[in-house]
Amino acid sequence: MPQQIKTLCWVGNIDGHLRLLDQTQLPVTLAYVDCRTVEDVSEAICSLRVRGAPAIGIAAAYGVCLAIQHAEHNIKLRACEACEYLAASRPTAVNLAWALDRMRYVLQQESVDNNSRELAKRLLGEACAIHQEDRQQCASIGRHGVKLLNSLPQGAGILTHCNTGALATGGDGTALAVIFALADAGAKPHVFVDETRPLLQGARLTAWELKQRGIEATLICDSMAAQVMKEGRVAACITGADRIAANGDTANKIGTYGVATLAQAHGIPFYVAAPTSTFDLTLDSGDLIPIEERGASEITCGFGKVTAPDQIAVYNPAFDVTPKELISAIVTELGVIQPVSTQEIANSVFIPERKVKVL
Ligand code: MRU
Repeated sequence: MPQQIKTLCWVGNIDGHLRLLDQTQLPVTLAYVDCRTVEDVSEAICSLRVRGAPAIGIAAAYGVCLAIQHAEHNIKLRACEACEYLAASRPTAVNLAWALDRMRYVLQQESVDNNSRELAKRLLGEACAIHQEDRQQCASIGRHGVKLLNSLPQGAGILTHCNTGALATGGDGTALAVIFALADAGAKPHVFVDETRPLLQGARLTAWELKQRGIEATLICDSMAAQVMKEGRVAACITGADRIAANGDTANKIGTYGVATLAQAHGIPFYVAAPTSTFDLTLDSGDLIPIEERGASEITCGFGKVTAPDQIAVYNPAFDVTPKELISAIVTELGVIQPVSTQEIANSVFIPERKVKVL
């Protein structure tokens, strides 16, 4: 990712604002949008101006900082209400709820009073810490993930789905960070990029990021993955995750389950890369993960072009759940989890318990 492109950043001090790269305009236009209210942040998350599990958590944390600007009374209450409001913007990626829980935890510390400047400083400090930690976690995921892929021959095909790079996180990404690290180590991976219907995160964002990095990539329609695998062009698949249950079942962008199923049918390893903030150990299995449903027009009138008859019934789940049996390994910032099982996850993933109560 070139230095000057920033997916999201906080501009200024406690009275500053959140600046986002508007991903709905990529790859045609590189435009930034400034969020100055919590409503602006919610709109940006809902409309996918900012997207990707870690990135929406970071954006929401900054959104809480915006919610209390100019407030003189009931500041903690306002911040708590902002947490509730932002948590409702997208249901599947647990990083959103996780980041907001961290903000809530700051709010309920006894040492934090209702004094606006001090509270604003603490909240901004926490949002910046979430952002900075994610940056470091991306780097660690890249380092650990390389161990899974560095035995592949030069030029090996690696298939990915959706966008899991710098645009989706506070750092270099998750699954794409692994590919970037592999390329940095001297390998020359050839990435097959699923276009990722219906919103084309693969075509618009992943292909764009790979080009920026000078990594060889071939764009395919989602429905071509089986043929490309059958032709022997894919040595491994790697994707990100939006929520991983305690047993390893993994929710990710719609179509990921299909990729994993195809990978197994062709004897190709299927890897998931995600920070530990993507695990939801309160859910025993993926059956319990809430799946966001999005509007029909994304399918019938994508990007402004009518492609279906008026009034046709549409089902548009934005995510699916890949059963753990199809996942060869999960890479986190802490290392590689293999085999993927409840026991291995419990041994590897530690999420500090923050008991948060509604104020
Ligand atoms: O709807 P999106 O674009 O937010 O979906 C994003 C994904 O599914 C990503 O694969 C996931 O969040 C991992 S991002 C590092």
